[in-house]
Amino acid sequence: MAPSRRHGIQPDPFDALASTWWDESGVLHGLGVLLAPVRVPFVVGVLRAELGPGAHRVLDLGSGGGLLGAALDDNDFTVVALDPSLASLGAGKTHGDSTGSGIRFVGGVGERLPFADVSFDAVVCMEVLEHVRDPAAVVGEAARVLRPGGVFIFSGPNRTVVNRVGLVFVAQDLLGVVPRGTHRWNRLIRPDEMDRYMRASGIEPGQVLGVGIQWRDLPLAALAVVGLLIRRLTYPEAARRIHLATGTGTSVAYQGFGRRR
Ligand SMILES: C[S@@+](CC[C@H](N)C(=O)[O-])C[C@H]1O[C@@H](n2cnc3c(N)ncnc32)[C@H](O)[C@@H]1O
Repeated sequence: MAPSRRHGIQPDPFDALASTWWDESGVLHGLGVLLAPVRVPFVVGVLRAELGPGAHRVLDLGSGGGLLGAALDDNDFTVVALDPSLASLGAGKTHGDSTGSGIRFVGGVGERLPFADVSFDAVVCMEVLEHVRDPAAVVGEAARVLRPGGVFIFSGPNRTVVNRVGLVFVAQDLLGVVPRGTHRWNRLIRPDEMDRYMRASGIEPGQVLGVGIQWRDLPLAALAVVGLLIRRLTYPEAARRIHLATGTGTSVAYQGFGRRR
């Protein structure tokens, strides 16, 4: 289905960045390069462990240009990508057409999903809930469209002092290496709040893993940020030098999942 302006979609701040999802020097492409080593194995591993083999129906909720959706399509899942940013969906569709992916791109907001009850085996919602107006409603909608036993997978930055200073003040507002205006600290979500949103929606929380940078990798990460600032590195080049790891504690970021009861 082509992206549409139905379902109450408003102009989205990610529209302005949409051309960078699949631009190999672009900022949002860099986000995908940065996160892929920790999130793709996690998401594919949880889906396979919880659902078993097969072309399960996966909703990439808040897909942007479909970076994660493309990885899931490559792993033989049947992916529907939903986002309010029509320009992002357009970038995803153009890329999908060029690679022959089977992803279906749909315009919409997570608070009011344009899908029937019980229509997906899994919903992945990565780096999204900190950008939405009503995260509890989005988790509730994810639960509604999941089948019993279906899987909800999420990730995002934690609402901690580390991120108030490091992510929002320094990286975003001061240096601008994270696009300005994309994160508001008070919208970041703590893992215990995710736990509450899931339980209230009929999703039984499963594992949560911290995501961050190990101490020994910090000097290389700092050099990568300097490289970005002095324009010696593109975002994806810098991202390849910033090694995220799991098991570092949740003070920076986390990824986790739950099961629909
Ligand atoms: C940081 S991007 C993450 C994109 C993708 N999930 C990924 O990790 O590659 C956040 C996305 O959330 C989308 N978004 C913002 N508000 C939303 C809402 N109410 N419902 C669904 N998606 C939303 C934005 O348009 C943007 O594409």
